[in-house]
Order: sequence, then structure tokens, then C-alpha cells
Amino acid sequence: MHPDIERILIPSDALSQRVHELGSAITADITSEQPILLVGILKGSVMFLADLARAIDHMVMFDFIAVSSYGAEASSSGIVRLIKDLDSNIEGRHVILVEDIIDSGLTLQYVLDLLRRRNPVSLHVCALLNKPERRETNVTINYIGFNIPNEFVVGYGLDYAERYRNLPYIGVLRSSVYAG
Ligand code: IMP
Ligand code: MG
Repeated sequence: MHPDIERILIPSDALSQRVHELGSAITADITSEQPILLVGILKGSVMFLADLARAIDHMVMFDFIAVSSYGAEASSSGIVRLIKDLDSNIEGRHVILVEDIIDSGLTLQYVLDLLRRRNPVSLHVCALLNKPERRETNVTINYIGFNIPNEFVVGYGLDYAERYRNLPYIGVLRSSVYAG
């Protein structure tokens, strides 16, 4: 285990199993013959999207959007800004927004509002992690990997100051790392 990690919250095999369950659930819910557009929110969703896409038994396409919310801090600034827009036009498309973690919900609400205005046929949300205690907005998450307690976690795409994204598990970061 990495020395900055206090404990492993979700080991790699549990992540893999749950991602496969989400992929099966999404596959079962797809009614359209059209390809599904998976929209990943950069950069935290990258590992999750890559594994989830391979667990969906349907034609999928990828696109990515980048927003800023946290900077290098471990708590939300509450301000969301668009850094990179989608490459594709989503009008008439079936879209699944793929996010690493829903905390306050402000990032998700911002991105959902932006995408909804572009008239996709459907717009669903699939989040690997959810911290329900921290929610400040009323957003619907259609697919949730794990509900987790209010602790700062890293790994499997999630970062602190751009670090730890490549850890193969979800771990609780030692508070000394961001306090000191
Ligand atoms: P929200 O806007 O407060 O819901 O925050 C969502 C974004 O904050 C996520 O996309 C993550 O990038 C980041 N975030 C929230 N909680 C954590 C955490 O525990 N570890 C790493 N990033 C987090
Ligand atoms: Mg982040």
C-alpha cells in the first residue's frame, strides 16, 4: 500500500466486480439500436470509463468534457468552470455522463444543465462513488457504484493535486498529506 494512504476503502477486485455489474445494468437498460455516447468528466473518470465501456455489451462512443471545481484543495470552492467542451454534437443522442465521484453535486449539476440545453434524447448519470452526506444540490444519479462516507479518497482515477490517480484501489488519503 502507498505510504500516504491511511486505508484501502475499495480494493481492486471489488471495483472490477462492481464495474461489471454497472455495465450489465446499463446494457440491460439500453433500448436503442443507436450507439451510446459515454461522456467522461476529465480527468477523474478516465479509469472508470475505460473499464465500464468494456463491460457494456452495446456499441459505445466516447467523448470528454473538463471542468474545474477543486484546484489543489481537498474541499470544494463551489465554483465550476468549463475547461474543455465536448468534441461532438449530442443533439438526438443517447448520453451517459460518467463521473468519478459526486460530492456536493455542484459539478454534476453544472454539466447536466450544460448538456441538457443541447437536446440529447436521453441523459443519464453513472458515478463510481457517491458521498451522500455532502450533497448540496438535488441531482439524480441513475447508476451508483458505491456510496462512501465523507472522507477524502484517491486512486482509480481520483487525485489529490493530480497525484495518486494510478493507484489500482480507492484509498483514504492520510489527512497529514493535505493538512501539512
Ligand atoms: P462536487 O462538485 O462537490 O460534487 O465534486 C465533484 C468533483 O470533486 C469530483 O469530480 C472530483 O474531482 C472531486 N472530488 C470530490 N470528492 C473527492 C475525493 O474524495 N477525492 C478526490 N476528488 C474528489
Ligand atoms: Mg479532481
